[in-house]
Amino acid sequence: MAFLAAFIKRQFISYPPIPTTSFSGKTAIVTGSNVGLGLEACRYLVRLGASQIIIACRNTEKGEAAAKEIQASTSCPPDTLKVWQLDMSSYASVQAFADRAKAELPRLDILLLNAGLGTMKFRMAEGLEETINTNVVSLSLLAFLLHPKLHDTAVKHDSKTHLTATGSELYEVAKFAESKAPDGQIFASLSDQSKANMLDRYNTSKLLLIFVIKQIAALAPLESSKVIVNCVGPGFCQSELHRDYTNAALRFLIKILARPTEVGSRTLVYGAGAGPETHGQYLPDCKITATKGLTSGEAGTKLQNRVWVELKQKLEVIRPGVTWLA
Ligand SMILES: NC(=O)c1ccc[n+]([C@@H]2O[C@H](COP(=O)([O-])OP(=O)(O)OC[C@H]3O[C@@H](n4cnc5c(N)ncnc54)[C@H](OP(=O)(O)O)[C@@H]3O)[C@@H](O)[C@H]2O)c1
Repeated sequence: MAFLAAFIKRQFISYPPIPTTSFSGKTAIVTGSNVGLGLEACRYLVRLGASQIIIACRNTEKGEAAAKEIQASTSCPPDTLKVWQLDMSSYASVQAFADRAKAELPRLDILLLNAGLGTMKFRMAEGLEETINTNVVSLSLLAFLLHPKLHDTAVKHDSKTHLTATGSELYEVAKFAESKAPDGQIFASLSDQSKANMLDRYNTSKLLLIFVIKQIAALAPLESSKVIVNCVGPGFCQSELHRDYTNAALRFLIKILARPTEVGSRTLVYGAGAGPETHGQYLPDCKITATKGLTSGEAGTKLQNRVWVELKQKLEVIRPGVTWLA
């Protein structure tokens, strides 16, 4: 009931503020920005002065169309936006993307980890259920691969840089039945089609994302890393996220309940420019908010540790040494 009341207030009454922070001279990577919240966040970053934005997407044709559209609406210099290929369902693609960013970008001020998948279809990618692979494991891999670049940029320019992930309020209602699996078996359990509850899958992936962000923030304290790590919550927004849902009634509900994409994107831009107090924090509608339910208290810490042991093992197999942070 409280969740419902808060939902209605957020969707119709209290919109997050229009971002005004300057991003002058900054370089940002925004994943999943050919459409939806990522595209609108890029438009804001351009308007607020960013000098280089990498639209990271799996379909570069769609990315080029997005870049053209942003360029036309903002009149920014055409080389402000670049489109780079990134397929989050492939570890080879994630690693190639990160290697390219390290080699070609003189600086990296913002890594906006926004690409995400919400589907009812059970598919596998890299030996894991695809939602978990995309929203959690590949996201973590990219975060760890590029954290050192964010650190180097912060040191070189005597600034703070940002690693911001797009979370979701739906983490609060995640059941995460797979957390009952024996130690070391959580990800295997999430990838067992015979037990998969796809209604809960997206919510669980966003709950795991909260753990990931808290974990990275703890591994890389701001004092030494100079990288602000946070997780935003945009509210329920118009976008392509619900493209799998063909049910007419559901599509109608989305249309009347969801916020404009631009409104949700304000929260992403806020996270990417937020202050040090947001390190390790969850920021629904631009406000630091204690996380709830399965992520809270001593039980939450224990569960986070169990998830981290497994995730770390996976990441270290993909790229040995990747989880070591400055
Ligand atoms: N809309 C909401 O109500 C809402 C609420 C809370 C949080 N979020 C989060 O906001 C983020 C952006 O979603 P959105 O609402 O803007 O949805 P969207 O319009 O569907 O955008 C999702 C983006 O992620 C990309 N993506 C998905 N799988 C990918 C993969 N394997 N490799 C590379 N890119 C991939 C999509 O690329 P393609 O176009 O190629 O598929 C697209 O660019 C997601 O993390 C989502 O979970 C959304």
